[in-house]
Amino acid sequence: MDKILIEGGRSLQGEIKISGAKNGALPIIAATLLCPGTHTIYNVPELRDIRTILQLLVTLGATWERIDKHTLKINSDNITEYEASYELVKTMRASVLVLGPLLSRLGRARVSLPGGCAIGARPIDFHMQGLQKLGAQIELEQGYVDAKVFGGLRGNTIYFDIPSVTGTENMLMAAVLAEGTTIIKNAAKEPEIANLIDMLSGMGAKIEGRDTDRLIVQGVKSLKPAEIAIIPDRIETGTLLIAVGAAGGDVTLTNCNPAHLPSLFEKLRNCGIYLEAGERSIRVIRSGPLKNIDIKTMPYPGFPTDLQAQIMALMTMTEGLSVIHENIFENRFMHVAELRRMGADIMVDGGKAIVKGLGKLDGAQVMATDLRASASLVIAGLAARGLTEISRVYHLDRGYDDLVGKLSAVGAKIWREPGK
Ligand code: EPU
Repeated sequence: MDKILIEGGRSLQGEIKISGAKNGALPIIAATLLCPGTHTIYNVPELRDIRTILQLLVTLGATWERIDKHTLKINSDNITEYEASYELVKTMRASVLVLGPLLSRLGRARVSLPGGCAIGARPIDFHMQGLQKLGAQIELEQGYVDAKVFGGLRGNTIYFDIPSVTGTENMLMAAVLAEGTTIIKNAAKEPEIANLIDMLSGMGAKIEGRDTDRLIVQGVKSLKPAEIAIIPDRIETGTLLIAVGAAGGDVTLTNCNPAHLPSLFEKLRNCGIYLEAGERSIRVIRSGPLKNIDIKTMPYPGFPTDLQAQIMALMTMTEGLSVIHENIFENRFMHVAELRRMGADIMVDGGKAIVKGLGKLDGAQVMATDLRASASLVIAGLAARGLTEISRVYHLDRGYDDLVGKLSAVGAKIWREPGK
């Protein structure tokens, strides 16, 4: 297994281009299952999760080609299969995103039930209840969700107890071809959902309420293939802003959308980090000491849970007490034990973490436990004195497009060593 090595303590200078959003691309790729034809998707990041969902689409009968490094063409003329196997779902939970489109297109979907994962139990009960409301019959058998619909899906009102990102996306994809009107109440409002709505609207779907928590879908009889560009990855953007904050330096991020990170901007500024937002760029400068901050993870536009591990690494470099309330996933503190190996003083009490910033970290051998925890360890390694060695970095490859190359280009001493 590959390792990442970092000689910390160097400030970062230069420019980094942000890639397309992983969580924007995954539902959009799944949406190509909805109708026959060739769809074109721009600004697709090069990631393991993207390769996984494409592999899943191929098992269902789709074909795809990369026109250039970041442009994908997907043809879904011959979708004949309806099963997402355990082998694929266990490597990527987002495989559940084929449930809605397959049910809509074929009237049948069989998707392995994802197990628990490193960050929490992550059930998919909202997805199943929502599809049942649209007329699907769902059975759980041998670890699979077996969904069938006779005579087509029918619009209905769906209410989510908690706004679910992929839940909202699955409902949208199921509702666009359903008969009548579907209303999704307490829908998630993440920018990736607006990206999917733009794709579906380009295909001919009728959806109102974009960017709000009340989505109204007027079912249409048919859809046509579409072209769409994936939005910039706000979590990659946030990760790099935090990295510069922790390591120090002066870096400009390009091809990003500053408007997608309102809560992070507020917190980083309170921490003493200078941010200058352009239309499609952000300049970040950190030269002085860091102040302690508190965060609470919330659905968008609140502070993203996907940046919680990274901001914890930054908190260890401040001087003072910082508190994190993790409100989305009950078990998302696996990085704490690894940060402690680097000298961090962190106490966990249920969903709360108290970080006593000591203004320094020491390099150590650490292990990545999930995607965002890996990014947190990279940030800690950049800020720490001495050598940090991160193992199990395959987690990082799932969701960051060439993080090592991008950080090297702004002066970090970071490299990858192939596993033996
Ligand atoms: N929930 C339920 N039942 C459901 C669905 C969700 O109880 O059927 C709960 C979850 O357990 C959680 C909350 O609702 O407490 C919100 O979860 P959500 O469904 O929004 O999460 P998700 O759709 O599975 C997406 C991202 C995650 C990100 C979360 C929260 C994708 C492909 N994944 O997951 O991304 O953390 O939203 O913002 O969009 C990552 O990229 O590292 C990642 C984990």
